[in-house]
Amino acid sequence: MPAISASAPGKVILFGEHAVVYGQPAIAVPVFQVKARAMVLPEPLKPAGWVRLQAPDIGLEALLSELGEEDPLGEAVRQVINKTGVDPLPALTLRVTSTIPVASGLGSGAAVSVAVIRALAEFLGYRLPDRRVAEMAFEVEKIHHGTPSGIDNSVITYARPIYFQRDLYGGKNRLETLVPDKPFTLVIGDSGIPSPTGKVVGDVRQAWRADPEGYEQIFSQIGELVRIARRFIETDDPQALGSLMLQNHDLLVKMGVSCQELNGLVDAAMQSGAWGAKLSGGGRGGNMIALVPPERAKTLADALVKAGAVKTIITHVEVNASSEDTQDR
Ligand code: PMV
Repeated sequence: MPAISASAPGKVILFGEHAVVYGQPAIAVPVFQVKARAMVLPEPLKPAGWVRLQAPDIGLEALLSELGEEDPLGEAVRQVINKTGVDPLPALTLRVTSTIPVASGLGSGAAVSVAVIRALAEFLGYRLPDRRVAEMAFEVEKIHHGTPSGIDNSVITYARPIYFQRDLYGGKNRLETLVPDKPFTLVIGDSGIPSPTGKVVGDVRQAWRADPEGYEQIFSQIGELVRIARRFIETDDPQALGSLMLQNHDLLVKMGVSCQELNGLVDAAMQSGAWGAKLSGGGRGGNMIALVPPERAKTLADALVKAGAVKTIITHVEVNASSEDTQDR
């Protein structure tokens, strides 16, 4: 058996984080400048069932049998065992590397899951459809997030801009490819503050329980912004889109998921000529995004660094996806 590898991109949420957990739509796009990679190497001298996991970035080296049930990497492997029925696995080493910062809203957990699931399935001779890969990665997301909406595993599996709406009653989620009228440019700024999404999602749930009416109102205002944003993406109106981003950011501030550093980066982006900016992902740290005229991207990235960003990424959202429903792929 030859070594097999697979990779998966990072992602940012353009609109609708948190509200998407409560059934509102959201928009996310892949970020190809960062990625997770999984490589499966055969270990012909070891007995069947000997499965070693290596993730040098996080200092992990362990046998599958040593990992607890709550370990996301172990769960990704178990998903493949369950779906393919190959048990025990042939002896192997699974090596995972990633350039996606952890706990920063760029989808590192989901990207690792997708890369592991694809590489391991292919190693075993299975070609899983995207829909199945996304479902399996969703099961792993539950360990990371508790109550994930499903947007991260979806955008990362399909690797194209998506419009996503969770079915709150366990039915089929709405998942559509979003085709921008024109490419657009985003600058991503990393606050450098790690913020595990599961914690922030849990805090929002508590706040929602304490004030259901107030929070439902914020969620539906965000949902409305997302629906309008989709039109502006599909008709190329970046100024209008930028202004919606700011409105979405304000609602996230109201929800209690921003922080001084992220607000500072959003302000710096606006002062440096962005059309709009907002935090992206779970919040309280992690990344923010700015929509910029392409020729200003470098200047704006420098301005974000001056305002405290530890890293920036310039990414272009392209117009290369087909308009078919991604669930049919
Ligand atoms: O993984 P993050 O930090 O991009 O957060 C995902 C977005 C949330 O809406 C906060 C959670 C979810 O499951 O949709």
